[in-house]
Amino acid sequence: MPALSTILDVGRPKHYRDDCDRIAFMYDPLVRSLSFFIGGKRGLRLIRTLVIDKMEIKPGSRVLDVCCGTGVLCAMIAEVVGAEGEVVGIDLSEKMLKRAEKRKNDNMRFCLSNAEEIPYEDGYFDCASITFGLHEMPYQVRINVLCEMHRVVKPGGKIAVLDYSYPKNGLIRWLFNIWMFVEGKTAKDFVKRDLSSMIMDAGFDSIEKSICAYDTVQIVSGVRVIC
Ligand SMILES: C[S@@+](CC[C@H](N)C(=O)[O-])C[C@H]1O[C@@H](n2cnc3c(N)ncnc32)[C@H](O)[C@@H]1O
Repeated sequence: MPALSTILDVGRPKHYRDDCDRIAFMYDPLVRSLSFFIGGKRGLRLIRTLVIDKMEIKPGSRVLDVCCGTGVLCAMIAEVVGAEGEVVGIDLSEKMLKRAEKRKNDNMRFCLSNAEEIPYEDGYFDCASITFGLHEMPYQVRINVLCEMHRVVKPGGKIAVLDYSYPKNGLIRWLFNIWMFVEGKTAKDFVKRDLSSMIMDAGFDSIEKSICAYDTVQIVSGVRVIC
């Protein structure tokens, strides 16, 4: 098992957006200001709490957060799993992880790693999450990442995926399309596809979907089938 806060010798895949490193220093305030229309910091915490609830995390659980960024969700999960539990955050941006390290507690570890090759054994985790990570990846990479999450979550364990959703309302859709222009090609492709089907294709069952933030965000959960 990788040691606490391991820096592995990983190469970055071609599709990886280096701008994650460049914006790491202002990522948290940027997210907070973009979320003003859903209640800012409080609204964000509520949405992240929904992700935690979907995974049905218990004290003592081992939880993986893929594409953890600055580790905000990891820190919230760490409070739920307690001292007996373990939270692992993986990301490909050293600068994001440096920020995450500042939130670190004894039950948290961070690892520089590609989400397509998670450095943990099969079934190690009770559950796993990925928030605002999949839209940054091309379609096949998203499937690979979901399959990797399936591999490292134990049978019967849950995953929760939070990401963009294409809103139906005309004005919101118009504003959202502008934002998608900023986000780029992979995000535009992401919102056109059905996230629930992707999660099912990766081998998860009992799919549940919630929509929030004026239909611009979806949280989809699934269970790894017990064979
Ligand atoms: C938009 S940020 C989301 C951060 C955090 N999960 C959140 O909800 O605020 C996307 C993160 O995904 C990471 N990422 C993108 N592709 C990745 C990959 N293949 N493996 C690991 N991390 C990746 C980026 O480095 C970045 O930190």
